[in-house]
Amino acid sequence: MKVGVFGLGYVGTVTAACLAREGHQVIGTDINADKVETVNRGYSPVLEDGVDRLVRDAVRLERLRATTDQAEAISSSDVSLICVGTPSRENGSLDLDPVRTVVEQIAKALGQRREPHTVVMRSTVLPGTTREVVGPVLEGLSGRRLGADLNLCFTPEFLREGASVRDFFDPPKTVIGEWAPGHGDAVAELFSGLSAPLFRTTLEEAESVKYADNAFHALKITFANELGNFCKARGVDSHRVMDVFCHDTKLNLSPAYLKPGYAFGGSCLPKDLRALVYDARQADLPMRLFEAVLRSNEEQVQRALDFVRASGARRIGVLGLAFKAGTDDLRESPLVELVESLLGKGFDLSVFDRHVSIGQLVGSNRQYIDREIPHLAQLMRESLEDVVADSELLIVGNRDPIFEPVVRDALASRRVLDLVRLFDDVEELGENYHGICW
Ligand SMILES: NC(=O)c1ccc[n+]([C@@H]2O[C@H](COP(=O)([O-])OP(=O)(O)OC[C@H]3O[C@@H](n4cnc5c(N)ncnc54)[C@H](O)[C@@H]3O)[C@@H](O)[C@H]2O)c1
Repeated sequence: MKVGVFGLGYVGTVTAACLAREGHQVIGTDINADKVETVNRGYSPVLEDGVDRLVRDAVRLERLRATTDQAEAISSSDVSLICVGTPSRENGSLDLDPVRTVVEQIAKALGQRREPHTVVMRSTVLPGTTREVVGPVLEGLSGRRLGADLNLCFTPEFLREGASVRDFFDPPKTVIGEWAPGHGDAVAELFSGLSAPLFRTTLEEAESVKYADNAFHALKITFANELGNFCKARGVDSHRVMDVFCHDTKLNLSPAYLKPGYAFGGSCLPKDLRALVYDARQADLPMRLFEAVLRSNEEQVQRALDFVRASGARRIGVLGLAFKAGTDDLRESPLVELVESLLGKGFDLSVFDRHVSIGQLVGSNRQYIDREIPHLAQLMRESLEDVVADSELLIVGNRDPIFEPVVRDALASRRVLDLVRLFDDVEELGENYHGICW
């Protein structure tokens, strides 16, 4: 394919050199004339393992050249990859000026042509930017409509500096966010040589994936460092700990616990995090991440409460009281906390959880209820159907499978706040179906 690469920094240079290596005809552009000249002399303007040789070979084979003239790049390509920088401003916001400028240049050049073209954002931008900033500029200045022969995509780059050529050819995934279905066909073809799993999504999903990835990587590093600080203070070898930790691909390095829903609770997580934070404090060791985790978790309960208050409903049915289905353990259940708060605010509540029968509870579980929520027993109902019938708003608190058909039916006539997202076909379920973080 004929490809224009806009911005010859780390991402642009590696992308241009690797696509040329794959046999595509690539033209790179940059506002920095030195970078352009460097490429045309057969050298890479960035220091990256393996990229110099790729640039040299590609230039020699006349598969790669560079220019400062955007219009020339557009007239020589079918696909434009935008790889300009999106640096931080002083206040942390994203500086979109380079993106706006390059999109304006591309749009004007596209206005001079009628051939089909696909514009692909590779620069990291916040959800909504490609549709709300890039799209209108493209249409406005080119005089062309997005659709039939002008396509718009966001395809994030997952390379790591230092290993970027390797990462380009062996990425963890390829994600193509599309303005509308079909817009990503040319990009899919461009990257069809890569064996990575391909995901075609909306623009906003693809933009968000990039932020999810980077936020998670940053979180992992900070998690490891904070835990390492703690281990060191306690004379424990953190690397040996993390070797064992990483071996667990069932619960630790796995999809477990990674779907947005409701607050964590139960008899272990809150207690153990608090103990860790307290113990570290005794060693004058701040545990900022873990402290923030506890605070953030409390706020998640507050979000559910806010939703219910804003809904205007007074009669609330709660389906599931234990923090997960199949247990009768109510200790530190964030659902109990929610029920308590709602009760305190004067809501009319009824609760169903077939695994929690107050009469049968014993031991620390029973003590917890007697101490924390002695009036809970009066709210419990024996019949799921009665709870649904009596409520204006239903709150789904755990994944008991018997909830699914009942909630699906109930959606026809009442609102549901599903804290666990029982269903995936959210679009089909209409305006009555809500979550607090999905
Ligand atoms: N560096 C990485 O490892 C990495 C990985 C994934 C994603 N990203 C994202 O990719 C984007 C680019 O990152 P980078 O590290 O390659 O940036 P960079 O600063 O190294 O390169 C950006 C290049 O764009 C050029 N440029 C600016 N305006 C231009 C214009 N109007 N026309 C043509 N060229 C123009 C600049 O001169 C510069 O050479 C950023 O959004 C970044 O967040 C970077």
